[in-house]
Amino acid sequence: MNATIETRGATEKDYPQIYELLDKVMYSTSEQLKGRYRNYPGTKPEHSRTTVVDGKVVSHVRLYMAEAYYGNATIKIGFIGDVCTDPEHRRKGYGAACLRNGIRYFAEKGCHISMIFSGVLGFYASEGWRLYPVSASVVNVEYLKPVPQEGNITVRRFERASDLAAVAEVYEKFNRNRFLPVKRTIKYWQNSFYWLHGEREENFYVAEKDDRIIGYSRISGNQVTEMCYLPEFPEAVPALWNSIVKWVEHWARRGVLEKELRVSVPADHALYPILKRVPLFHEITYYTMLLRVISFQGLLQALIPFFSEHVTEDFSQAFDLDGEVVTLSRENGRWSVSPGGKDAVAISSEEFFTRFLGLPVYDPPSRPAEVQDLLVHLFPLHVSHFYHLDSL
Ligand SMILES: CC(C)(COP(=O)(O)OP(=O)(O)OC[C@H]1O[C@@H](n2cnc3c(N)ncnc32)[C@H](O)[C@@H]1OP(=O)(O)O)[C@@H](O)C(=O)NCCC(=O)NCCS
Repeated sequence: MNATIETRGATEKDYPQIYELLDKVMYSTSEQLKGRYRNYPGTKPEHSRTTVVDGKVVSHVRLYMAEAYYGNATIKIGFIGDVCTDPEHRRKGYGAACLRNGIRYFAEKGCHISMIFSGVLGFYASEGWRLYPVSASVVNVEYLKPVPQEGNITVRRFERASDLAAVAEVYEKFNRNRFLPVKRTIKYWQNSFYWLHGEREENFYVAEKDDRIIGYSRISGNQVTEMCYLPEFPEAVPALWNSIVKWVEHWARRGVLEKELRVSVPADHALYPILKRVPLFHEITYYTMLLRVISFQGLLQALIPFFSEHVTEDFSQAFDLDGEVVTLSRENGRWSVSPGGKDAVAISSEEFFTRFLGLPVYDPPSRPAEVQDLLVHLFPLHVSHFYHLDSL
């Protein structure tokens, strides 16, 4: 008899089987995942997309949706995590079916792009995701020294009950107008503590001046994952850094720390000049971030506030992004995006995302110069334009 196979959104009843599968395949325990499935803002059982064979869940992906800053625009990202197929059912197309089903769900919910962090490129590439670089600074813990501090700033441990609202405000003020940090509502902040792993709250510091929180930093494992400050108080940064140096000295002396500390901050961050002075400072590029367009039309529409800042002349141009043709226009100062269009210029999703991330791109020589100029205007080059904070 033929097996019954279906790919669908999960219901509450599927959770025990999903947790069993995750426990069998993934390194995260299902306790952490349960925390995330119960607490991620907007979470629903149907965010687990499953392939079910004869009533048994054999393949699973979990969808997480969040808004993110893109300069002065807001885009909606569909993240995918917790991807696994039962070892006895691999290479039968069940995982790919879950991904395709997830893409459809993201499209229905208005996501513009999808982002995944993974080392299993081949699997995602077969469904249209491509790899893009993310960089981090690396310093050797042996060379870290305290730096001069100015202003009357004290640093202490974060207290969740009393500090969260102030920390959320620092995050928002630091990150708005940046590129791709997730917009965190207060609920997102509160609930995120249920699903974080690897972070210890003793390494979550806040910097205060006149009893006001002006900055904070977080460490997870051997990585400074976040350091945000109110833009008018960059002096929070040396104070926070000195607390990290003290922490590093403490643990390095006990042989608990690895030799290298990784730091993820954008190039215009007040910590960057401090890091660059540490002997043997260097930057590394990871290739673990996969991106895929979900709706090119929706994405261009969402990016209009950003484009409006750079392009001040009228134009109308159709683009063909891997088969999705969309016309972007500015007529008498009014922007519009519509499906279809004549004389569309082909642009691959790789080229699109390279521009979107502010990275230098190889210009196809056959492309008309005015189209080339338009693309450069729409997506001006930024140094370290991309600044990623939240992953799963
Ligand atoms: C990765 C994983 C989910 C794939 O599931 P699957 O159901 O076997 O995948 P599919 O059969 O749908 O594969 C579709 C295509 O993806 C590619 N692919 C699948 N597994 C792959 C792997 N491990 N490496 C590279 N490419 C892979 C192949 O091109 C495959 O097509 P083919 O079999 O016709 O060559 C599964 O191997 C797994 O659970 N691995 C352990 C957990 C894991 O690594 N999760 C992802 C981390 S984010």
